[in-house]
Amino acid sequence: MKLLASLLITAALAAPAFSTFAADAKAVAAKAEPVKVVKPDLVKGEASYTAVCASCHGADANSAIAANPKLAQQHPEYLVKQLQEFKSGKRANAIMSGFAGTLSDDDMKNIAYWAASKTAKPGFAKDKELVALGERIYRGGIADRQVPACAGCHSPNGAGIPAQYPRLGGQHADYGVAQLTAFRDGVRKNSLQMTQVAAKMNDREIRAVADYIAGLR
Ligand code: HEC
Ligand code: HEC
Repeated sequence: MKLLASLLITAALAAPAFSTFAADAKAVAAKAEPVKVVKPDLVKGEASYTAVCASCHGADANSAIAANPKLAQQHPEYLVKQLQEFKSGKRANAIMSGFAGTLSDDDMKNIAYWAASKTAKPGFAKDKELVALGERIYRGGIADRQVPACAGCHSPNGAGIPAQYPRLGGQHADYGVAQLTAFRDGVRKNSLQMTQVAAKMNDREIRAVADYIAGLR
């Protein structure tokens, strides 16, 4: 009984000291908090982009070269994911792994949000013969091989769904063909969903849907 009482007294004496300490710790934590700012720095993003990336992806992120993707208006989370995976090697590409390798997480975020803020220039479908097939696949998939409709994830107008599904509308057909072929052949391995989508598509279907996507807006 005596022991219990003395324990209670000790605890009561210790309690205020402890709560003062806790308050101090909180104050320190609050002061330290703003170090990791979440907001991307678009000015820095534009500067890095202009110095390193613009020559291939275009000054306004609307690459004019068909092998290099347009980045304008793409969802920033998707762009960051790609840059991280080029850097780690999860998305293998000799050119981009070198450039992404020099970027910090903050650089990636700054550049991605800057590119996302640019307006995508529309493109055009070029293959009259294939474009109808491309539209059928985009909107309805290929039923007899269980290829799902692209529109289901990438949205009917190709704008995608922010964070989850990338924008495709207006992208260069050559780049689209290269990516779909790379998913199908196991060269681009950073999306199980897309590997499964492309697995059952033949070259003609890939060309058709990529051409349709180039003109989608
Ligand atoms: C020498 C030309 C070149 C330069 C410079 C370059 N890129 Fe690329 N980039 C490419 C090519 C080619 C691809 C397509 C890679 C593939 O086929 O997987 C690509 C792909 C990308 C992608 C993937 C886009 C998507 O839709 O999946 C992103 C993001 C990207 N580049 C960002 C950048 C950034 C940021 C920089 C500057 C730090 C940069 N690139 C510099 C040529 C270049
Ligand atoms: C179940 C959802 C889903 C469906 C259906 C789907 N996609 Fe995708 N697609 C994705 C996701 C997720 C990604 C992003 C992969 C990543 O993070 O690298 C993607 C990426 C892509 C890319 C690469 C974009 C780029 O900029 O590199 C292309 C091209 C593409 N999809 C075309 C298609 C086509 C064509 C179809 C229809 C035949 C289709 N997708 C159907 C989910 C889907």
